[in-house]
Amino acid sequence: GTTLRAAAAEKGRYFGAAVATGKLSNGTYTTVLNREFNSVVAENEMKWDATEPSQGRFVYTGGDRLVSHAQANGMSVRGHALLWYQQQPVWAQNMSGSALRSAMINHVTQVATHFRGKIYAWDVVNEAFADGNSGGRRDSNLQRTGNDWIEAAFRAARTADPGAKLCYNDYNTDGINAKSTGIYNMVRDFKSRGVPIDCVGFQSHLGTSLSSDYQANLQRFADLGVEVQITELDVMTGGNQANVFAGVTRACMNVSRCTGITVWGVRDCDSWRGSDNALLFDCNGNKKPAYDAVLNAL
Ligand code: XIL
Repeated sequence: GTTLRAAAAEKGRYFGAAVATGKLSNGTYTTVLNREFNSVVAENEMKWDATEPSQGRFVYTGGDRLVSHAQANGMSVRGHALLWYQQQPVWAQNMSGSALRSAMINHVTQVATHFRGKIYAWDVVNEAFADGNSGGRRDSNLQRTGNDWIEAAFRAARTADPGAKLCYNDYNTDGINAKSTGIYNMVRDFKSRGVPIDCVGFQSHLGTSLSSDYQANLQRFADLGVEVQITELDVMTGGNQANVFAGVTRACMNVSRCTGITVWGVRDCDSWRGSDNALLFDCNGNKKPAYDAVLNAL
């Protein structure tokens, strides 16, 4: 293949990008997006603050626009994210206990129902584990509703959209470490008890090097019987950027249950990482050396 989407498709994978729908009217942006990618995810527009700005009032304008763009251009859609401790609407931030618990489940049910049949994989829960060496859960208003909140969310999502793959998604899981092992133990427990989980997303916001056990970590999750996906890939600029991108791509290709890679934006100037210049295209839409490295590794 001569594009990321064609080369990935030849290997039975997708290659995706995070999109801000406001940029779909920019010709440079949309030319690159449509030529190179066959999967999209909303950078912000399917998050809780965007989709339920006041309790019980749902706004799907941005998400629907992205889904239409995807359908018109042969792209699948990742849904991101039903529940997260960040980017919650203020009304939810101010809630706790059983009221928050019901509001949270209602949010999952309503949003997953709205997009039913249109989403390849949902990040049902994003970033619920703590950084550092505890291997435990992150404190959050959601965690304080009960340790079973994650499985309750996955069950609600399955009921609302039985056809979507349901993922747990997190960062700093780029090798075998205490945080990734905490998540691994949760997934193993869910699989053993029949809690519906189909995939694990590895955000992969990376610096100047790649852990030597990046692939081994993907493989141990795959061996639990879940799909693995690289969900938010971006890499610090510098002499090693192309190598790190290629290393991640090779790791995914070497794990048969690694079904796709998503980069977190199209051009460097679209990236939340600003001056890290962390993506595959420069601001004019030109391919960077990291692009060629990824294409060759697919
Ligand atoms: C980021 C977006 O890129 C920014 O536009 C927004 O201001 C903050 O969120 N992990 C995630 C993503 O799961 O949702 C985050 O996206 C980046 C870190």
